[in-house]
Amino acid sequence: MHILGIESSCDETSAAVFSEGRLKSNVVSSQSDHVRFGGVVPELASRAHLKLVVPVVEEALAAAGVRKDELTGVAVTAGPGLMGSLLVGVNFARAFAWSLGIPCFGVNHLEGHMYANFLEEPHPSYPFLCLTVSGGHTQLVLVREDFHHEILGETLDDAAGEAFDKVGKMLGLGFPAGPVIDRLAADGDPAFVQFPRPMINDRDLGFSFSGIKTAVLYWLRDNPSALSDPEPRAAARVRSDLAASFQAAVVDVLVKKTLAALERTAVRDVAIAGGVSANSELRRRMRQASEAGGFRLHLPRMDFCTDNAAMIACTGYMKMRSGAVVDPYPRADPNLAISA
Ligand code: KG4
Ligand code: ZN
Repeated sequence: MHILGIESSCDETSAAVFSEGRLKSNVVSSQSDHVRFGGVVPELASRAHLKLVVPVVEEALAAAGVRKDELTGVAVTAGPGLMGSLLVGVNFARAFAWSLGIPCFGVNHLEGHMYANFLEEPHPSYPFLCLTVSGGHTQLVLVREDFHHEILGETLDDAAGEAFDKVGKMLGLGFPAGPVIDRLAADGDPAFVQFPRPMINDRDLGFSFSGIKTAVLYWLRDNPSALSDPEPRAAARVRSDLAASFQAAVVDVLVKKTLAALERTAVRDVAIAGGVSANSELRRRMRQASEAGGFRLHLPRMDFCTDNAAMIACTGYMKMRSGAVVDPYPRADPNLAISA
């Protein structure tokens, strides 16, 4: 079985080939047009996908050494994501599969992130708990078996990655700011400001990150010269300390809530998924919790954390293998929910 995966839900155009249970190639083209706007501009993203989708698919096939007439199926991200971006991937995938006489099926982007944990061994055993933390979503999901999910809790407002990006903007760090905050925080003092940890002790497994973001905004308002200290090293110090303090608050909440969900579900395997799962402090704290708590932790490789088509091809392969009935004519759905 040779599955071509295509991902275009946001600002990454990506294609991958997954053959006989093994990843053969994964090409990711990150659009840089959005940096100067401090966020993804949907119209620019879809135009860039249009330009990139054919060369990226060609490159993925060439890197895998698989001809298009050898493909068994095409898996494409059908949602959630930006409508214009999704439409490019879905329409290309449908037409490409049709021209080859092979099936095309839609993959949920969030399921793709979760099943990225199956790209490497050892993969999670069912049932497992997955903390999905991306730019658009924050969810704690109980995965009972292939494609059977129960959402135990999700964010009531901002997603974790969104909070990283918005705080980064306040600190003048460019876009996306998650990786920059991660880097700066490594030299910062996490106890510099005690930012709130919303809902950390609630019985509810939901999240809220907008309060942490607002607390950073208020701190900057109350300390207007902190980032413009004439001594550049002093300003850099404050920036790193704020990054570390903010990151500590977000990671505290994510880890504590995951442990609460673990206690409630009594599963043995925990996985993390999505762009924020690349965060080094989150990975360190989850590893620490795993060593102390006796659960098996699954962390995707760094390039499988952020958006990529390897996870879509792998999920498509699992879908085909499971014999699940798949819609042969997937439609782009910006609000697509994960399967129950
Ligand atoms: O999963 P992803 O690539 O796209 C979505 O599906 O949203 O996640 C992107 C998010 C962005 O908000 C980005 O800032 C964040 O993941 N991110 C990180 C790190 N790397 C990416 N956040 C914190 N630390 C990181 N190292
Ligand atoms: Zn994503």
